[in-house]
Amino acid sequence: MTENVVWQGLSVTKERRYEVTGHKACILWFTGLSGSGKSTLANAVEESLHREGRLTYLLDGDNIRHGLNRDLGFSTEDRMENIRRIGEVARLFCDAGLIVLTSFISPFQKDRDQVRSLVGRGEFVEIFVTCSLDTCEKRDPKGMYKKARAGEIREFTGIDSPYEEPENPEIVINTEEQTVEDSLDKIITYLKERGIIG
Ligand code: ADX
Repeated sequence: MTENVVWQGLSVTKERRYEVTGHKACILWFTGLSGSGKSTLANAVEESLHREGRLTYLLDGDNIRHGLNRDLGFSTEDRMENIRRIGEVARLFCDAGLIVLTSFISPFQKDRDQVRSLVGRGEFVEIFVTCSLDTCEKRDPKGMYKKARAGEIREFTGIDSPYEEPENPEIVINTEEQTVEDSLDKIITYLKERGIIG
């Protein structure tokens, strides 16, 4: 389909955008079970970066599913397409010079690797937000696990749909053991060590 479409070279590069923002861009890809704490953490990281004057944008699972991906459900194919689209959007925002944060279950390693391959080395930061299924179920902030156990929601991740744990995540946050503050510190430290922010 792209046979007769020629890629246009553009003169304002990512590097030139860094000169304006004063920091590099990357994708902070939070992955984990529903209720593991992805959104809470992503929100805390965005809040902290924003307060320090960094350009950020948070793409959040539930919100994106109301708009861009409103046509998608939770079959394996739809989840793949969900992540593919988010990956492309995240790539664009990253290219625009933003620190992009994404909060999606993104249960399949292959799909996460596919997004990783879209951006440059070091620009994809996979953050595994881990927490036992038992605790996620106890937290059940949206009452989803209850519905899944009652058979009212099918193919629910962790119940009757799989979650593949990241093989080589850049960062692991265990939300049963670490506070939001500690987790935030860990992520900000990582960004500083890698020279993404000063
Ligand atoms: S993903 O698997 O495609 O990455 P995504 O993060 O976009 O999932 O959406 C997950 C959110 O949708 C959950 O937090 C939950 O609120 C809701 N949801 C509704 N049905 C399901 C389901 N079958 N499996 C997982 N999450 C579901």
